[in-house]
Amino acid sequence: MAKRKVIAVAGATGAQGSGLVRAIQGDPSGGFVARALTRNANSDKAKALARLGAEVVTANVDDQASLERAFQGAHGAYCVTFFWEHFSPDRERAQAAAMARAASRAGVSHAIWSTLEDTRRWVPVEDDRMPTLLGSYKVPHFDSKGESDRYFTEAGVPTTFLLTSFYWENFIYFGMGPKKGADGKLAITLPMGDRKLPGIATEDIGRCAYAIFRKGSEFAGKTVGIAGQHLTGAEMAAALSRALGQEVRYNDVPADAYRAFGFPGAEDLGNMFQFNRDFADDFCGARNIETARALNPSLQTFDAWLATHAARIPIQ
Ligand SMILES: NC(=O)c1ccc[n+]([C@@H]2O[C@H](COP(=O)([O-])OP(=O)(O)OC[C@H]3O[C@@H](n4cnc5c(N)ncnc54)[C@H](OP(=O)(O)O)[C@@H]3O)[C@@H](O)[C@H]2O)c1
Repeated sequence: MAKRKVIAVAGATGAQGSGLVRAIQGDPSGGFVARALTRNANSDKAKALARLGAEVVTANVDDQASLERAFQGAHGAYCVTFFWEHFSPDRERAQAAAMARAASRAGVSHAIWSTLEDTRRWVPVEDDRMPTLLGSYKVPHFDSKGESDRYFTEAGVPTTFLLTSFYWENFIYFGMGPKKGADGKLAITLPMGDRKLPGIATEDIGRCAYAIFRKGSEFAGKTVGIAGQHLTGAEMAAALSRALGQEVRYNDVPADAYRAFGFPGAEDLGNMFQFNRDFADDFCGARNIETARALNPSLQTFDAWLATHAARIPIQ
């Protein structure tokens, strides 16, 4: 049997990376094998990836030397950063740069960089339609990713720039699930007006990424945006109502009100939703459902995702 090509996966125990590892290992005749990067090879999640047949190696995206070792001999590298672990765009850029340089030094043939838009191309820092955060950002966790695209280009690594979408898992894990209001009614709260938000099941990000690695050079140097569906807040609330068997309303709030909610990251997310809303044509246009379905024929709609996940959505 021909030697299988190694795909090194950053964040392999996380949402995007674990989906990619499962996609690779779920296709034993596909010619690829996953190398799962983790800071702790003894964690339950890392051991579960080893049981799938993935090679598990220790690496830290803050440590370029560890990334170079982890990328050594790999055909591909899936590069993703973890903004919500530290809330620092500067650190996120340093991590992206370390991955790009490590991929270059290890001679990786194809990288996927999980990126997002630098929103300052639409709303410059001096534009007061939304507040400037941390001195020089509008949406810090978007801007630092978009600004980092150049590290991959400059490092000369053949790279696919993958624009992901709002995870529907945010309704389970990110505190965005339906909450009871003062009137006792359930509602999801988003400052999106009547504009559509591209969303996706995290498992489908990994499946799309696997197809991009399989297709290889066709996608190197390209930007690819993926989504499972583009839905308004009202449409998501209606789908949640059907899946949960009780009415969920859409609570449309001004972006200023969302920014003032006070939870960690509220200002960043308030600006993000305002950007998603005010530039919805560009934002949705960059995330093509048919492209995602061509890469991943089992792409889920929100209803399909809810059919298997609704029971895990916490109702508060
Ligand atoms: N939530 C959304 O809707 C959404 C949408 C689009 C994009 N994103 C972006 O997705 C990114 C996060 O990706 P994700 O959701 O796949 O992550 P995640 O599920 O939060 O998982 C992160 C994994 O990364 C690993 N990790 C954390 N810090 C690390 C470090 N310093 N070095 C090496 N590994 C580290 C951890 O694994 P170990 O503990 O095993 O090391 C963890 O399991 C964020 O930057 C976010 O902005 C989110």
